Amino acid sequence: MADGWERAVPLEELEDARPRRVEAGGTDAFVVRNGEALYAIGLRCTHQGAALDRGVLHLAGSPVTLTCPAHGSMFDLTDGRVRRGPAMHPVPAFDVRVVDGIVEIRPRT
Ligand code: FES
Repeated sequence: MADGWERAVPLEELEDARPRRVEAGGTDAFVVRNGEALYAIGLRCTHQGAALDRGVLHLAGSPVTLTCPAHGSMFDLTDGRVRRGPAMHPVPAFDVRVVDGIVEIRPRT
């Protein structure tokens, strides 16, 4: 889409706390639903590329995070920043919205 938003997945297909892989603008990402909240960050860990959708979610309280299943790097689901290494670099973060029941994501600049 011209404004950068990409259709990702129907909202009704997103289960709470079950990451769902999506692709937007040539970037692999995943979306997580936590009740009314939706998060989307890049799929690949910036340490050694493990698939983050297989990691451990922490959705209660703050910060909301995902821990990489390979070596334990922890990323903030709200903005992709590294909360704990060994990763040194953030993963891409995406804006998320719902339009007509479809979750859309857009790379955050
Ligand atoms: S690949 Fe994710 S912490 Fe190493």
